[in-house]
Order: sequence, then C-alpha cells, then structure tokens
Amino acid sequence: MYKIYLDHVSYIYGQGTPFEKKALDDVSLGIRAGCMTGIIGHTGSGKSTMMQLLNGLASPTEGKVLLDDYDINSRPEEVLEACKSLPPYRNLSKSAAKKAIKAEVTRRRRELCFRVGLVMQYPEYQLFEETVFKDIAFGPQNMGLSEEEIKARVLEAAEFTGIESDLLDKSPFDLSGGQKRRVALAGVIAMRPEVLVLDEPAAGLDPRGRDFIFEGISHYQKTTGSTVLIVSHSMEDMARYCDDMVVMANGQVKMHGNCKEVFSKVSDLSSIGLDIPQITQLMALLREKGMDVPQDIYTVDAAVSAVKRFLETGKGGV
Ligand SMILES: Nc1ncnc2c1ncn2[C@@H]1O[C@H](COP(=O)(O)OP(=O)(O)O)[C@@H](O)[C@H]1O
Ligand SMILES: [Mg+2]
Repeated sequence: MYKIYLDHVSYIYGQGTPFEKKALDDVSLGIRAGCMTGIIGHTGSGKSTMMQLLNGLASPTEGKVLLDDYDINSRPEEVLEACKSLPPYRNLSKSAAKKAIKAEVTRRRRELCFRVGLVMQYPEYQLFEETVFKDIAFGPQNMGLSEEEIKARVLEAAEFTGIESDLLDKSPFDLSGGQKRRVALAGVIAMRPEVLVLDEPAAGLDPRGRDFIFEGISHYQKTTGSTVLIVSHSMEDMARYCDDMVVMANGQVKMHGNCKEVFSKVSDLSSIGLDIPQITQLMALLREKGMDVPQDIYTVDAAVSAVKRFLETGKGGV
C-alpha cells in the first residue's frame, strides 16, 4: 500500500517564459507507508521541487500527487462529479452537495500541512518566537488544539529531537546551529504528521549534529509508524537509516528500490556520478585482497560484524 503516489508528475518553473525549466519530467513513484525513503541525486535533479509538491506547497504542472489515494490538489468541481452519487452526498440537493463537498475539499486542503510535515532546507532561518517552547508550539496552535494538548505535543516533540527541557524557555536565537535545527524539526514533529518530509535535514551540521538529527527522525518514525522521506547527499546516512531509496537525475527517477537493490547497481550509480557508501567500497577492496567478506554491506556496524566473523572463523558471510 502506497502512502504517497506521484502519478505522471511534471513540474515546470516559469512556464511560457524564456526561463522555463522542467524540474520534474513525468515522474511516477509510489512511497511505501511506514517506511523511511531516501531521495538522492545531484543538485538540480529535482529533489526539492518534488518535496514541495508533497504537501501542496506547489501543485504539479501535470499529473497528480495522491495521499492515501486522494488527489491532494483536487478541485471541488472534480470531487463533486466523482462523489455526488455516493453517500453522504447522494441524498442532498445539488446545491447542498456542492456546498458540502467544497467544505470537505477545503478541510482536507487545510489538514494537508498538518498531515504532511515539511522540513525545508535550513529550517532554522524560520524560527521567530521568543522562546523555544513557543516556536515548537506554533504548529499545534494553528491546529486549534487545547493548551494542555499543545503542551503535551511540545514536550513529546522535544523528547523525540533530544531538546533538553531547560532549553524550552530560552530564546531560539541563543542556541547553537545544531540545536536550532532540532527546534525547527520539533516544530514539525509536534503536529504529529503521518508523513514527514525532510529536505537535507543534516546539511551543514557536524557529525554529532547529523547523528542527533537522524536519530530524532528515526525515533519518531519507529515510534509512530509514520512515513518519512529524506533528501540527503550522504550515502552513508541513507544506508544507515533508510529502507528504500530513490535516485533522481534530470528531473526523473532513475532507480527505486531497497538500499540493497540500489547499492548493488554500482555501475548505474557511477554513470549518474553517484558513489556507493565508502564502507561498501572498503569491503570491495578487502574482497580484492582475498578476505572472504560479503559484498552487500552498506553500514559500518554490518562491516564490523562481518570482519569480526572473518577473523574468528575465516568466513565473513552469514
Ligand atoms: N524557483 C525556481 N525558478 C526556476 N527554476 C528553478 C527554481 N527552483 C529550482 N529551479 C530549477 O529546477 C531544477 C530542479 O531544482 P531543485 O528541485 O531545487 O533540485 P535539487 O533539490 O535536486 O537540487 C534545477 O534546474 C533548478 O535550477
Ligand atoms: Mg534541493
């Protein structure tokens, strides 16, 4: 079951102007529910554009974006045609059905930014409140939740993202870069989105900061069973945290599969100019030197186990 499905989606910037640019070119792609999917590809391959289409921030020039099979850019007139013979609309007069469907489409549209939480690149620039608490509370407040529920959401989001409680009363502007990034992430997590979309969430952070961010995202995903999409340049992070991977180039999806499937296509990846994780390259080198370790190793932890096994038994395979 796909949580999100892109059905022949194209996106053109500046259509009809001399600067026209096709950023997405007939992309069809299904994102599995409850999984973490990594999106990789060079700068300009269309990753950010694709992320912005997922919560309606932009609408496709062509094609549809489906969330649980519902076209997020549906117009009331289209829904009216499709639904007027269905309950609860079929017993209403034409004008009452039209009104009810319009209200429903508007409600779904409004809900979309809570259901699909988008963490843009460098989100810390969007922090603006006096305190960390208020910043994290901004989303839940817009959802119209009670004060009590808002507080619970803020504390939960702070916990997911490793924000210590003594930071909540501080100004977000007094925090370190990594802490600010976590506050921005917490602000989206506090809406408890079913789908969490992150555009290069760890860009510019040091390794410790990266780990904090990825651990927070992974913790949220595992605890809530939500669907997560992450754009990243780091093959290492993708291999460590993601179930599936999508490889983009020139506005198209070039590969899609689990990490094993994608990383096994070394020559396809290198023809796009992308590398396999360094640890996989190291394992290939060890194999060349005659060490019997498996080829399909993508994380440092798995490599350590394989090398240990080899040293103990002379065989690194399972
Ligand atoms: N606001 C914009 N106006 C015009 N062209 C844009 C705009 N944003 C992105 N593009 C172009 O669309 C293509 C895809 O960009 P983007 O989605 O940002 O890719 P990525 O995130 O993979 O780097 C690039 O060629 C980029 O130059
Ligand atoms: Mg980008």
